[in-house]
Amino acid sequence: MPLIELDRSAARAGFHRVPFAMRHALADHDLFTLPRLVELAKSMPGDRIEYNSGKLEPGVRPEDVPGIAMPAEDVIRRIESADAWLVIKGVEHDPAYRLLLHDFLTEVSNAAGPDAARFEDLRGFVFVSSAGSVTPFHFDAEENILVQIRGDKYVHIFDNGDRRLVAEESLELSPASHRNQPYRADFEHRAEVFSLIPGDAVHIPYLWPHWVHTGTSWSVSMAMTWKTPAVRRLNKVRLINGTLRRYGLPQASPGTRRSAIAPRSPCMTSPALRWSRCAAPRHCAAACAA
Ligand SMILES: [Fe+2]
Repeated sequence: MPLIELDRSAARAGFHRVPFAMRHALADHDLFTLPRLVELAKSMPGDRIEYNSGKLEPGVRPEDVPGIAMPAEDVIRRIESADAWLVIKGVEHDPAYRLLLHDFLTEVSNAAGPDAARFEDLRGFVFVSSAGSVTPFHFDAEENILVQIRGDKYVHIFDNGDRRLVAEESLELSPASHRNQPYRADFEHRAEVFSLIPGDAVHIPYLWPHWVHTGTSWSVSMAMTWKTPAVRRLNKVRLINGTLRRYGLPQASPGTRRSAIAPRSPCMTSPALRWSRCAAPRHCAAACAA
């Protein structure tokens, strides 16, 4: 039985480019019952579990997020009344979740067609949230499909090309920076809102800003993420640009100008470098002299 159901033409046109919805068959899967999630949480190192009060505004400052004085397992057991938001990160370290992640994303990749970029670095994040919980405004430096397992969830997604929402500088990466981004209520008319119930999923492409809230019931969902070779390359550039900015050397954003360092052809390098890069030095010399 297939794990996903989607419009293949929409998938081929939109994959890694724009958000789109799909259906899935994981709503009753054994890996997402509360007892199984308690077991998963207990098996994970503490630094892979993050939780706090879910009663937040989408633009809350990271330092203003209230914590919860309760072990993660108890938050999961009491999620119906805990007013909490919890995420278990890196669930691909558990073989059962890793297999599910692999099978699901293989189906998506096949549906997206032979031209879809390669999947690398598959990761899974399981979210357990009380009713009315908010995941503040942020973006993720990876490709993502958010899979709704239980309850209702609303995903507000914004165009990642709109620099009025997130400044180019904020897209640079730094281990020290928090994922939450400044948010204003007047952003909202630019959002595309995906309403998810069990069996729904939405593709959130690389760096598309979003914020999320649950509805009137508690919720379980899973973010399945991956990187393409292009995403890995861009993340390296954004990390270097973020570092250089901290040292007072701001750089243009990736792709906005030709690099001053990397030459387009061996002919543009020093003679030594030219010869070391040229596959057929005699032809290279003739071509460069022309
Ligand atoms: Fe996200």
